[in-house]
Amino acid sequence: MRISVVGSGYVGLVAAACFAELGHEVISIDNDVQKIELLQHGEVPIHEEFLPQLLEKHRGRTLTFSTDLGEAVRASAAVFIAVGTPSTYQGDADLSYVESVAREIAGAIDDYKLIVEKSTVPVFTSDWIRKTLLLDGVPPDLFDVASNPEFLREGTAVSDFFYPDRIVLGADSERAACMLQEIYAPLRDGSFYQLAGLVPAPDDARIPPPFIVTGTKSAELIKHASNAFLALKISFINAVANICEAVGADIREVREGIGSDSRIGPRFLNPGIGYGGSCFPKDLKGFQAVAREVGYDFRLLEEVMSINEQQRQRFLRKVRNTLWTLKGKRVAVLGLAFKGGTDDIRESPAIALVDTLLSEGCAVQAYDPAAMARAQEALPRSPHLSFVHSSYDAAKDADALLILTDWEEFGQLDLGRISHALKRPIVIDGRNLYDPEYMARHGFMYVSIGRPEVRPLQQSVNRIAAASRGVS
Ligand code: UDX
Ligand code: UDX
Repeated sequence: MRISVVGSGYVGLVAAACFAELGHEVISIDNDVQKIELLQHGEVPIHEEFLPQLLEKHRGRTLTFSTDLGEAVRASAAVFIAVGTPSTYQGDADLSYVESVAREIAGAIDDYKLIVEKSTVPVFTSDWIRKTLLLDGVPPDLFDVASNPEFLREGTAVSDFFYPDRIVLGADSERAACMLQEIYAPLRDGSFYQLAGLVPAPDDARIPPPFIVTGTKSAELIKHASNAFLALKISFINAVANICEAVGADIREVREGIGSDSRIGPRFLNPGIGYGGSCFPKDLKGFQAVAREVGYDFRLLEEVMSINEQQRQRFLRKVRNTLWTLKGKRVAVLGLAFKGGTDDIRESPAIALVDTLLSEGCAVQAYDPAAMARAQEALPRSPHLSFVHSSYDAAKDADALLILTDWEEFGQLDLGRISHALKRPIVIDGRNLYDPEYMARHGFMYVSIGRPEVRPLQQSVNRIAAASRGVS
């Protein structure tokens, strides 16, 4: 099928490349001229596993890039909308980009088009898109508006696309539902999985994935409600982790006990420094605004957001409690992205923390495997902030090492080198990447989330001191 995807960001670009991999002819559209030129020249604007390979494979063949939305609409049977839907200052979703795309589509329609919302949008958006096209004079039989929410996690977005837990197709007409099913036919009938693909199946992949066909409004709600529930799980475990700290219990054990109840499940129960990213913070506010608009006071969501904010503050308190005063201290920061596997820093708790540490007079030596360029743009220029090229450079002469993002490489550090580089062997881990006893054996004071704080074991202190005196 000929498909256009409007918006070539973290979601739209991945969707476009994956549709091409499914065998469709795809035009990826963006109004950012620079981004489109970059893509046309074979560059990849975001860090996403497997995306460079997919772009390389399909670029210039079944995947093209353009800024001309009208021409793309005329050339396509289905148009997916994946432009940004940021929060307004009141917390509801700013749908002005979606509206302007709808107007451009209206101006270009010449025969039947299926218009599909892919961005996270409030439940009444499909109605608005429909009304906008009708008001702009498009006959009702020339289009349908459907919803096909994405559940892609940044960092594993390509894998999530091909091996999803489910695919939700929201349509209000038989024709729209059939077209959506046709688009995903290679996943539905399993034929895609018989080919030697680029992307390996995760261990727990459901092949073929379940398809859930709903009305458009239900699909829109599924997306908001899913993200709200996942955020709720994270805030819940963070709250339980805080109780663990207060009573001296261990969140690892508690989490195992809770998560092995199949009604609850173990996933998304990792405590940390609070959720961030372009979706959860925005979607919780957006969902709350939808509820408010229809007369329901969804206070539970308020609490989820408030726990999340407190979690960031608690981490800062841990840093203070460990280092005493912050002014004049030097800290190593590992991780600036909102989570591992991505260069995205939108609503990153790490960025907020670095900002606060700088304003409290700390010197920060920061390292992230992918997000440094974006972080450099977002953080204030300061003689006290340096971006370095490795975890070991970050640790050099620092009073403590803070782990803020769960990149795999941060869980596999050479602890001897880290300890040697640090001025004091203190690790404050916001992502629980290490075992506390192991850290104590390696001579660290180790502070993490929901687990007892540990101090270096005496024999390891002696060993490290001997090593530094050159005694074997
Ligand atoms: C988007 C939505 O913001 C989010 O609600 C949804 O859940 C997923 O899709 P994302 O892909 O991460 O998120 O956003 P971003 O990386 O900012 O990409 C949006 C793209 O749309 C940008 O490249 C922007 O230039 C483009 N855009 C925006 C248009 O092409 N036209 C517009 O009118 C506005
Ligand atoms: C999320 C949803 O997972 C995805 O389905 C949706 O379509 C887009 O939004 P994403 O924002 O890419 O994806 O990241 P996700 O893996 O969900 O993590 C979000 C935040 O929660 C990150 O800051 C992460 O560090 C944090 N998190 C996640 C936790 O603190 N604990 C967990 O157990 C899981």
